[in-house]
Amino acid sequence: MVITVMVHMYRVFMTGSYKAPREFNWLIGVGLLVLTLLLSFTGYLLTWDQLGMWAITVGTNMAGATPLLGHEGPFGEQLGMTAHNDVRFALLGGSSVGANALLRAYVWHCIAIPLFVALLIGVHLWRVRKDGFSGSL
Ligand code: HEM
Repeated sequence: MVITVMVHMYRVFMTGSYKAPREFNWLIGVGLLVLTLLLSFTGYLLTWDQLGMWAITVGTNMAGATPLLGHEGPFGEQLGMTAHNDVRFALLGGSSVGANALLRAYVWHCIAIPLFVALLIGVHLWRVRKDGFSGSL
């Protein structure tokens, strides 16, 4: 899916189909790309093996360094962020990768993100109909 979305984006870019009147649909596409990468990321933990555990450990540690929202990020401490109430904690459902993190990844991967993807695909295809396909004569 990641490769297919990138090939599609490359095609749209090479044919200049991101230009007026399709700028808005390009932005919707960027949202779909981000959601596709998030599906890829959340799915990685679901195998519940060493690769997945460490990927999520590194990824959520990075989230812990987010400005304002992470306890290790710039201004996080000043805003009262700790290892037990920051964005990393919210993603993991705890302070380390465990059963709660697996459950959260599962819900994101199988329910929440697919719902957002379905919504954006709906808007995306509606815009293709309204703006007209760039390749049609
Ligand atoms: C889950 C991801 C995506 C799905 C399912 C999807 C689906 C589609 C479909 C079926 C079309 C009409 C046929 C075609 O032009 O090939 C289309 C057109 C388009 N897509 Fe996507 N797309 C996705 C991601 C993206 C991304 C990442 C971008 C760019 C950032 C993008 C930008 C566009 C634009 C600008 C059009 C209009 C193209 C034209 O009229 O030639 N889409 N998309």
